[in-house]
Amino acid sequence: MKSMKSTSGLENSCIAQNRGGRVPYNDLIVGLDIGTSKVCAVIGQYDENNIPEITGVGMYQSRGMRRGVIVNIDATVKSIVQAVEAAEMMAGREVGEVTVGISGAHVEGINSRGVVAVTGKGREIVEADVERVIDAARAIVVPMDRAILHVIPQEFIVDDQSGIKNPVGMIGVRLESEVHIITGSTSSAQNIIKSVNRAGFRVSEIVLESLAASKAVLSQDEKDLGVLLIDLGGGTTNVLVYIEGAPYHTSILSLGADQVTSDLSIMLKTPLESAERIKRDAGCCYVEHVEDDHYVQIPRVGGRPPDRIAKSKIAEIIQPRMEEILRLVRDRVNEQQLLKRCGGGVVIVGGGALMPGVAELATDIFELPVRIGYPEGPGGLKEEYSDPQYATAVGLVMSAAGKSEGEAPRRERKERGQNILSKFKEWIGEFF
Ligand SMILES: Nc1ncnc2c1ncn2[C@@H]1O[C@H](COP(=O)(O)OP(=O)(O)OP(=O)(O)O)[C@@H](O)[C@H]1O
Ligand SMILES: [Mg+2]
Repeated sequence: MKSMKSTSGLENSCIAQNRGGRVPYNDLIVGLDIGTSKVCAVIGQYDENNIPEITGVGMYQSRGMRRGVIVNIDATVKSIVQAVEAAEMMAGREVGEVTVGISGAHVEGINSRGVVAVTGKGREIVEADVERVIDAARAIVVPMDRAILHVIPQEFIVDDQSGIKNPVGMIGVRLESEVHIITGSTSSAQNIIKSVNRAGFRVSEIVLESLAASKAVLSQDEKDLGVLLIDLGGGTTNVLVYIEGAPYHTSILSLGADQVTSDLSIMLKTPLESAERIKRDAGCCYVEHVEDDHYVQIPRVGGRPPDRIAKSKIAEIIQPRMEEILRLVRDRVNEQQLLKRCGGGVVIVGGGALMPGVAELATDIFELPVRIGYPEGPGGLKEEYSDPQYATAVGLVMSAAGKSEGEAPRRERKERGQNILSKFKEWIGEFF
């Protein structure tokens, strides 16, 4: 198999080996969310006005992931193939390359600052100065086993004048930039690329999952006012805070809604599969909302007869765990005193957002307005993708299309063997 080595050391093989080396269609943009519970593929296709619309959606049970990180490549490959094939079937098109998400506790976000002197004619700031000042801010020490995933400008400061989003054309002597840098483990990224390649697809870009989800569900007003986005997945809880229009805090907790299923399984002495079914069919994480006289059947193990339990008892098991997760998020965000800067409230996405009562519980814990995030933006199969579980995959399509910030869709041909990390730089443009 031919492969190209990027400067980051991430391998991205070119040949779609087990799918006969098909040539990618460049008018397709495909988001692939490889989660702990499910793999989700969303196909976007440019319409006649060059605007992407969703034409295919596929979801398949994820095997081979643990807490957002690949632990079994073979199993992950199978889930990817199934999810993409389901989406291909719906779209009636074959996928060549994908924009894939990355998550896991290895991901870290830090804020950094860079300073340069403006030396050009008439001291007018040009794009090259902006690039230089961003490079200065990204010059942090990154250990060998980590890669910079994103560098996102927050604001620029020209001669002590702060709050500038685009300094190009301004006159100044000193240009400063404040940026949010997101790093992640190189091996985790390599395992994602390897699994996608082995499933028969190329990776065009790797995007932090919460950043992708933010593109699908957050409004510009929310980002400007400050907003806390929580992606409550099966094995992880992704946290992303926007302050004054730009990402300011990123972290990922190795705890998700699957823990609720384990709790139910243990407390109700029932297998994980039936605990999951009970959670989805009869679960609620806000005890106050549950009426006492509703009962649910509990299958038992070892041939014992089924039992029955009041829904309120189930809620009493679920609520403490959901509270724990949300409190951990609150404490993490409050390490930087950010909650009071989140005037835009809290938005919850991911499968955990489907748990009845989660918005009410989160309102109590964060003391902020809370809403569930349904992906919006591209047209097409709205009914199929309008689900908080699809927020990341739809956001990956939107990231690839560069659409949500109002810029022109990118449609350039992506060269084989292109340096993936150079793609991350394109995020920068999206925040101007
Ligand atoms: N209708 C529902 N009611 C309650 N919980 C649900 C529902 N649907 C899914 N979930 C839960 O959501 C979780 C899966 O969420 P999601 O699909 O966002 O995870 P993931 O993206 O695969 O995992 P991760 O992001 O952690 O890697 C599971 O714990 C599942 O039980
Ligand atoms: Mg997820």
